Amino acid sequence: MKKGKLIVLEGLDGSGKGTQISLLDEYIRSSGQKAYITAEPTISSTGGLIRDALGGHIKRDAYELSALFLADRIFHNVNPKNGIRNFIEKGIDVICDRYYYSSFAYQGIDADLDWVMNMNLDCRDILRPDLCIFLDVDTSLCDDRISENRFDREIYENAEAQKRIRKRFFEVFQKLGDSENIKIVDASRTVSEVSADIIKIYNELKEN
Ligand code: TYD
Repeated sequence: MKKGKLIVLEGLDGSGKGTQISLLDEYIRSSGQKAYITAEPTISSTGGLIRDALGGHIKRDAYELSALFLADRIFHNVNPKNGIRNFIEKGIDVICDRYYYSSFAYQGIDADLDWVMNMNLDCRDILRPDLCIFLDVDTSLCDDRISENRFDREIYENAEAQKRIRKRFFEVFQKLGDSENIKIVDASRTVSEVSADIIKIYNELKEN
């Protein structure tokens, strides 16, 4: 049986990942295929520890936070109930809102980037995505979208941090080079323009 594809959407906070994932999901279903939508951090107990830290309720060291994301990602891949690997093996595409690229860009600033990259990339339980789509937006646009949608801001949700994180994403993509299939999409355009690009990239992947 043909395996499913693991497709990751990445982008800064407020880059429109959620909207675009719903539209991609709608498209996949309407074309008679199946998709499983998921996100990191997950809703596991480790995910709960992470969310407490992101909310600023508990202060955690960058290495500790990286390790929590790693543990959550392993669980996300291998748990027998709804782990990513299960769906991929059954031929179902998995669309994941954030993955290890976020660990590299967010935690790889305060923790050593190579350390964060190696522990994720060297872990055999963690699948390598077939495709990563990065929704690129100007950080000021993100800031406006965050202000519209959030009551409380998480620790990374400020303009300065977002600028540093965007820069880091591009450094990481350069470092990964051809070892990963990364597509950068200009997400400052209309929702339908961005969605059309994402669907085109998805179809190209499926044709291969
Ligand atoms: P959340 O509000 O759950 O979703 P989003 O902003 O993607 O709509 O926030 C997730 C936060 O977690 C976001 O600020 C990025 C951060 N994050 C990391 O720092 N490292 C990681 O490895 C992942 C997966 C997320």
